[in-house]
Amino acid sequence: MSRSVTVAAPAKINLQLGVGPVRADGFHPLATVYQAVDVHDEVTVAEASSTRLEVRGDGVDVSDVPTDGANLVLRAAELLAKHAGLGDASVSVSVRKRIPVAGGLAGGSADAAATLVACDALWGLRTPRADLLRLAGELGSDVPFCVLGGTATGSGRGELVEPLPDAGTYWWVLATSGEGLSTPAVYGTFDRAHAGRTVAEPSLSQALVAALAAGDPVALGAALSNDLQTPALSLRPSLAELLELGAQPPAVGSLLSGSGPTCLFLTADEADAASVRDRLDAAGHRTLTARGPVPGARVVDAL
Ligand code: C5P
Repeated sequence: MSRSVTVAAPAKINLQLGVGPVRADGFHPLATVYQAVDVHDEVTVAEASSTRLEVRGDGVDVSDVPTDGANLVLRAAELLAKHAGLGDASVSVSVRKRIPVAGGLAGGSADAAATLVACDALWGLRTPRADLLRLAGELGSDVPFCVLGGTATGSGRGELVEPLPDAGTYWWVLATSGEGLSTPAVYGTFDRAHAGRTVAEPSLSQALVAALAAGDPVALGAALSNDLQTPALSLRPSLAELLELGAQPPAVGSLLSGSGPTCLFLTADEADAASVRDRLDAAGHRTLTARGPVPGARVVDAL
């Protein structure tokens, strides 16, 4: 057993986010395609006499991140300890955040996934992957994907994940916002916009699946879609201008990331990504370049 374990926790983006009618439990059925990208947080867990959590920002504002029991990271450690029959095993968790907070990039879910993987290694549990994915689903809809990584489909409320054949490597420009958007608020706006109308059950885009299988960024760019984009734009109208500016060539596709407010621009290669990024930076936007797909939460250091 190790005394401390560090896990890299990649951000996720959604290449398709198909949303259906709200369920009785308040969640929405999804037909989504996730991709993990190489912007990542780092989570280090260590044995300790009492549980504690420290969150440090590495270029991102962490002032809104809770460090008490409301943080999914502590719930993840507690859930795994209980599952393994360890009672309330104490652990010290340190999170180094590079994924923008409340940005539609699943930063909190990535940290929770990383904590499951890190504690599993720290405690020498070797929990079967299927069990880890089920526990992840209890923590949040995006957490199982953050364990899995790569490119994958998500169904149910997003927690049922299956790897999807993907022959490509894609270059994305991410335009982040200083102020996050609340995921429940965006879903609530979706519901109000569809009140009194029939919302179809979402289905996977076959054009998107074919573009990924071929590794074709131009076809992928044409197939990107997000049903939360319209509601998010009604809450944050300034995003429309950002999306339009970023979507100009050489970008081959654009869309809102998850429930926003981060916007994504797909390009054919690294040089085109740099050119789109320069254009957005010159207009005063904050940007990152990210490559995907990358593996999910994985151990990078164990001492
Ligand atoms: O599962 P998670 O905790 O990440 O979800 C956060 C919130 O997002 C939920 O409380 C719900 O309001 C909304 N949500 C939803 N349908 C989904 C996933 C999330 O309505 N499939």
